[in-house]
Amino acid sequence: MSINYNEKIPNNVDLSSDRRLQRALERWQPEFLNWWEELGPENSTDLDVYLRTAISVKKDGWAHFDYVKMQDYRWGIFLTPSDSDRTIDFGIHKGQPAWQEVPGEYRSELRRLIVTQGDTEPASVEQQRQLGRTCPSLYDLRNLFQVNVEEGRHLWAMVYLLQAYFGRDGREEAEALLERHSGDPDKPRILEAFNEETLDWLSFFMFTYFTDRDGKFQLASLAESGFDPLARSCRFMLTEEAHHMFVGETGVGRVVQRACDLMNEHKIRSSAAEVEVRKYGGIDLPTIQKYLNFHFSVSVDLFGQELSTNAATYYNTGIKGRFGESKINDDHLLHDSSYSVLELKGDHIVKVDAPALNAVNERLRDDYIVDCDIGVRRWNKIITDSGIDFKLKLPHRAFQRGIGQFSEIQCDPQGNIITQAEWERRHHEWLPTQDDQEYIQSLMQKVTEPGKIAGWIAPPKGKINRHPFEFEFVRFN
Ligand SMILES: [Fe+2]
Ligand SMILES: [Fe+2]
Repeated sequence: MSINYNEKIPNNVDLSSDRRLQRALERWQPEFLNWWEELGPENSTDLDVYLRTAISVKKDGWAHFDYVKMQDYRWGIFLTPSDSDRTIDFGIHKGQPAWQEVPGEYRSELRRLIVTQGDTEPASVEQQRQLGRTCPSLYDLRNLFQVNVEEGRHLWAMVYLLQAYFGRDGREEAEALLERHSGDPDKPRILEAFNEETLDWLSFFMFTYFTDRDGKFQLASLAESGFDPLARSCRFMLTEEAHHMFVGETGVGRVVQRACDLMNEHKIRSSAAEVEVRKYGGIDLPTIQKYLNFHFSVSVDLFGQELSTNAATYYNTGIKGRFGESKINDDHLLHDSSYSVLELKGDHIVKVDAPALNAVNERLRDDYIVDCDIGVRRWNKIITDSGIDFKLKLPHRAFQRGIGQFSEIQCDPQGNIITQAEWERRHHEWLPTQDDQEYIQSLMQKVTEPGKIAGWIAPPKGKINRHPFEFEFVRFN
């Protein structure tokens, strides 16, 4: 269970007993490090950062905190320990022992799922690489780097699976993961949400809240996979993912808190918030709502088509389950059951029953939306506790979609279908405008004195490993 840091590649998979695999990964390692140097967090090589590192994969003992020089960070391969009796919980192989090798007939599907997941990990590091220039505090800078190194490790997790179980094409896919780049016109990342640049910290917090949460749901359904090494990799990744979403939730919460504090301090009424809060250097609640609308809608796209035969195949063959599969009370086969989905009928959105097997994407999207709403309610509590009359809201799932049936229509955040002309006229009310973005950008000024913080965000309430906000989380050398 413990992780050996004396090896070139720290791991708990007994890498040294497989010389061929060890050599393959040791060949990939310098390419990864070059990529990190070139496209990882800008100007971070010489910094000492107070980071947590995995030392064991046991539930309570895996996080170790200390200063780490960024260039000395040790990425490795950590899987949740195997349970030798594990059986497959769903699909036509239900009840059979989980696979320790890739079944030949599902090889290409499994490879595609692993590559798609793997591609998002370095993509987000690339998207966020310039944020260090404008960090609002040392605490936030440290959190950014923590997220970045863990996304780097998630890439290692997927590359290990490719190299260990998919032979030559696995090795080629591992190389390609470092060749595609976020926003690259010739070799972009696979999924669209991962080709947008994350230019400011409000976007970063929204991204880690909404887009990393897509990661949580994808990983959780892959953690149910009949392919045991994939399931075990994803289980360990989920423990790290929780921290990324925490950074997002508390980050947005602190921006909301600051807006409310400014409104109270300067007696600003909700109706005048946009102009007035900005006068005092805060981010007004209506603008926060616009960023929320954007990041939510881009992230719900990541779940794919509402009805999907690919998703049905993944489920039926036991390679990708549902969220919390083992806790769902049904036959786990879904051959005769139905699931309620929203459908476009003429110019209305209606609820219809669809075959449950084809609707597993939509079910995952439903689970995701419920989870997203929990944080929105916490943000609203901050607003109510401040005595302010304003409510943040998730937009309707049909709002601003690029994938699925709703991509064919335009609708407002409440889910009313509108004409293209009305969309053109009104979308600036719902999504960040050039002006909004320029304003947010104007606030992005680097603050790196311990205990100091930028004026658009409140300090955190929590601590990191018992260290308060004033702690020197990053040392510049
Ligand atoms: Fe990740
Ligand atoms: Fe993440």
